Amino acid sequence: MRVAIVGATGAVGQEMLGVLENRKFPVAELRLYASARSAGKTTRFLGQDITVEALPEGPLPADIVLASAGGSLSKQYAPVWAKGGSIVIDNSSAFRYEDWVPLVIPEINPGALVGHKNIVANPNCTTIIMAVALWPLHQAFKARRVIISSYQASSGAGASAMEELLEGTRAVLSGGKAENKIFAYPLPFNVIPHIDVFQENGYTKEEMKVVWETRKIFGEPGLKLSATCVRVPTLRTHSEAVTVEFEKPVTPEAAREVLSAAAGIDLVDVPSEKKYPMPMNASSKYNVEVGRIRKNLVFDNALDFFVAGDQLLKGAALNAVQIAELLLD
Ligand code: A2P
Repeated sequence: MRVAIVGATGAVGQEMLGVLENRKFPVAELRLYASARSAGKTTRFLGQDITVEALPEGPLPADIVLASAGGSLSKQYAPVWAKGGSIVIDNSSAFRYEDWVPLVIPEINPGALVGHKNIVANPNCTTIIMAVALWPLHQAFKARRVIISSYQASSGAGASAMEELLEGTRAVLSGGKAENKIFAYPLPFNVIPHIDVFQENGYTKEEMKVVWETRKIFGEPGLKLSATCVRVPTLRTHSEAVTVEFEKPVTPEAAREVLSAAAGIDLVDVPSEKKYPMPMNASSKYNVEVGRIRKNLVFDNALDFFVAGDQLLKGAALNAVQIAELLLD
């Protein structure tokens, strides 16, 4: 396969290189694209230096385009690349809500790829990490209502957002003030309950992405979900506290049994040994960690659990490459 990565110098683009390498994706030729600022930089892939090119106008010489350079760029160029014969796996939200565009988590709805029209959407990172854990429980016990609170890392806003957190932390530690350009407020030593733009209903777009996308991926337009998305001063890996009310009788033991057999999940749930999901351990892992499973005290027949998943990997680069693998078959 001739593969192109658009946004190759970014936080997700860089992870895509590593995932293609690790999973031995059959790459015949790899082209790396970014803005003109990055043209001429080199990146290692399979022991070779590959030069980053400024993204050209027009179609790309690739069978698969992995795009992670923002929504407006995807909106403008993905149809051009698709028309030129490439299959575009788009990490932005530009096409996710179009009926004709498959929105795919390979562990959940690989069948949605059938009949694709050369643009496939990679879901939002917070959605993917929660959905991978919720799906097997939904299949076993049928979820009715889902309430989510997220603890999202700075890297969700890109490589420069990680830099803003590090620089700001250094500044505060040396007695200065943290600057903020990317986040609405300084993130060091703070939490910010504001990710993406506010909607008329009082939720942010990030929160509504979790609602819209989970319904589409599960094929459950009536599933009730509510999310509160919060940025926390970690570098990578999103965590989420999830409360789910089920239709069929459920117990923590039964949920653990289901999750321990599920794809893409590591059950980390031994509180007596201080074993529970955390960014510290879930970072750089392909699987999502799930733990703290317990019976919810408020709703009848409901569970609480906690997930932590590397949102640059399963939440973005890994999921995109897994989609590409499905397209090989
Ligand atoms: P560059 O590094 O040259 O700015 P992140 O999500 O980590 O911020 O990364 C965004 C990615 O999108 C980077 O690789 C960035 O390249 C790329 N990018 C941003 N704007 C453009 C553009 N106009 N054309 C091509 N690539 C772009």
